[in-house]
Amino acid sequence: MFSMEEIQRIRDEFPILARKINQNQLVYLDNGASSQKPRQVIDAIDNFYQSEYANVHRGLHHLSNIATEKYEEVRNKIARFINAKNTDEIIYTSGSTEGINIVAYSWAWPRLKAGDEIILSVLEHHANIVPWNFLRERSGIVIKWVEPDQFGNLEPLAFQDQITDKTKLISVTQVSNVLGTVVDVKSIIEIGHNFGIPVLVDASQSAVHQAIDVQNLDVDFLVFTGHKIYGPTASGALYVKEEHLGNFVPFKGGGDMIDEVTRDHITYAKPPRMLEAGTPAIAQMIGLGVAIDYVTALGMNKIQAHEKSVRDYALERFAELNWLKLHGSPKDQAAIFSFTMGEVAHPHDLSTILDQKGIAVRAGHHCAQPLMNFLGVNATCRASFALYNTKEEVDKLVDGLILCRKLFD
Ligand code: ALA
Repeated sequence: MFSMEEIQRIRDEFPILARKINQNQLVYLDNGASSQKPRQVIDAIDNFYQSEYANVHRGLHHLSNIATEKYEEVRNKIARFINAKNTDEIIYTSGSTEGINIVAYSWAWPRLKAGDEIILSVLEHHANIVPWNFLRERSGIVIKWVEPDQFGNLEPLAFQDQITDKTKLISVTQVSNVLGTVVDVKSIIEIGHNFGIPVLVDASQSAVHQAIDVQNLDVDFLVFTGHKIYGPTASGALYVKEEHLGNFVPFKGGGDMIDEVTRDHITYAKPPRMLEAGTPAIAQMIGLGVAIDYVTALGMNKIQAHEKSVRDYALERFAELNWLKLHGSPKDQAAIFSFTMGEVAHPHDLSTILDQKGIAVRAGHHCAQPLMNFLGVNATCRASFALYNTKEEVDKLVDGLILCRKLFD
């Protein structure tokens, strides 16, 4: 856990946290949508553009060499961060959405035929639903769904119940972006592998809260997003286990993903380059590397312990609000909470009032409409915490909710 001094130092490293919103100190609790950036990341991007910028993989001049070196170094950092066996298993992406689309188009589309099945959970956000719907519309695959229990837990054996001899992939989140459920993906992967089925893990919400070890998980594909882990937007990674790399076909065509281009014939580079066409998000990926250095230096286990203590405190405080409907109470929960006030107030109104107090939460369907439907609501308010959030901020949120309740009474 972090000491008070450490938390203050960390908060000082995130310049935006000093901002006032509507004359109130910002309480930023919309980290599930995107987290704030430490000065180290901001400075690295600034420095890159000011004194090191050039395109990568294309020039032999000094700046191009520096840019290429810095850009490619991030592949090592990501590989170490998730404990991948080798750097070729790391495909740069603009985020989880692109990562899942690559698996859908480049791995699944050529292999799956009409009637083949993939299994998703009802906890998924749209990034792990819509790409599979494309395959349903275009190839006639079937999507099967695993529902959570009444507390928001996903039972690994429920995936086994959905497996048939037509199942070709299981794709599941590691942490629900709405309920905070920490899913036992290791057991789901074991079940999938018992039936020869590969598993994709969406680590969009988990990579920021807990250490990821792809070798220990034995996962086949894993995606995460840079902007949710204190890095820039348009950065992220797709992990592909080595044995699957040869089964990918090119996704986007363009520069940098080819071996040779003639008028009549083109040969492609091997992955990861084959899947990274065009001038990439160079500065963003360098920024992501610095964000990874940042959380690694703090220690993912320490970050997780801090967030757990804030989570426990938040649960204690929410329990005092008997008029607040907290959606889900999973066995293991990241510091992500969805709540409503029944008929008393719409989540959008709650969010607007909280915003008046400087408290940023997300209200809406959280890009998880099947889950909203399962919960029987159109929208919730969501408070999602990060490493820089404190128990005092939980108190401010609770005070804000009490104010909402009074205003709508
Ligand atoms: N999936 C993102 C969220 O949870 C956008 O807010």
